[in-house]
Amino acid sequence: MTANIAALLLQHYVDNFRTLPWRSAPGAAAPDPYRVWLSEIMLQQTTVATVVPRFERFVQRWPDVAALAAAPAEAVMGEWAGLGYYARARNLIACAREVVKRGGFPDNSAALRDLPGIGRYTAAAIAAIAFGEDSAPVDTNVERVIARLNAVAGSRRVDIERRFLALAPAGRAGDFAQAMMDLGATICRPRAPKCNQCPLASGCAAYATGAAEAFPTRKRRPFRPQKYGTAWWIERGGRLWLTRRPSTGLLGGMAALPGGEWSAVKASSPAAIGHIQHIFTHFVLELTIERCEEPVGEGWWHPIDRLDEAGLPTVYRRAAKLALAAPEQSTAASFAAA
Ligand code: ADE
Ligand code: SF4
Repeated sequence: MTANIAALLLQHYVDNFRTLPWRSAPGAAAPDPYRVWLSEIMLQQTTVATVVPRFERFVQRWPDVAALAAAPAEAVMGEWAGLGYYARARNLIACAREVVKRGGFPDNSAALRDLPGIGRYTAAAIAAIAFGEDSAPVDTNVERVIARLNAVAGSRRVDIERRFLALAPAGRAGDFAQAMMDLGATICRPRAPKCNQCPLASGCAAYATGAAEAFPTRKRRPFRPQKYGTAWWIERGGRLWLTRRPSTGLLGGMAALPGGEWSAVKASSPAAIGHIQHIFTHFVLELTIERCEEPVGEGWWHPIDRLDEAGLPTVYRRAAKLALAAPEQSTAASFAAA
């Protein structure tokens, strides 16, 4: 049964694999470790559909790890803008520089785990896809597939890894891992899995129960506290005053609208242009956008008609969009009130 599952999944992958810019075709030579690494970092919290065009742009700008290692940090942070989880970009730069210092990517998951930004899953994925190591890259998608095949409600990560390795065929680590990822993304979806199109249905214990979707039991969504902050809209002669966030912490090193600390207390803001709600991993931010006359803190003037090139993360892009769409009279009103 086990060998059968691997063979069925690989055949399904050969017939249906998604062509992606960091992948090689099933059975072909392994892809460039630089591209595998970069794609895995981008895919950590971001969907394939979002990543594909951003990946293409990124590798066009920095085609290999040496080029990336030599890039100024601000350029890399700017290129990452909109992808979120900006610690990934900071670690990306550190990792590229470390890899260059070592003379190349290490070729096994244990050594890959020592590099900045590369955890257990990512190390296993790079090792399997770029170096053919029989590792177990178990992310939430793969965990779901394995849990369903075995009809287990919940398992420790190491148990899922053991089950993964028990299924994996020798010598096809990269294709098998990506076949699992594709199955989890397209067929064995969190909700309404397409069991009637699944090559593994005949060997799937969750399917046999008639309630595949119930596996694994879902974790409750974490409670997100509310925070409040202000962003200043400081405009002069068609240009906008921007700052850079401190290099550590949330949005660290990213371009930003100037503003104070975010806190649990909402300040009154009679002259506000408007507010946006933005969801971060650990809290929800209500950001109030207010006009201000004088530049605040260190920063630079950026042309407003080229704001999309400023490298602003999504929360500030949304703030800018709101400010630019604000009716003339209400901005004038807030101007007078300020
Ligand atoms: N998600 C994480 N890694 C992936 C990969 N290599 N292909 C498709 N989806 C993925
Ligand atoms: Fe997932 Fe259904 Fe396939 Fe089982 S049969 S692996 S639950 S899609």
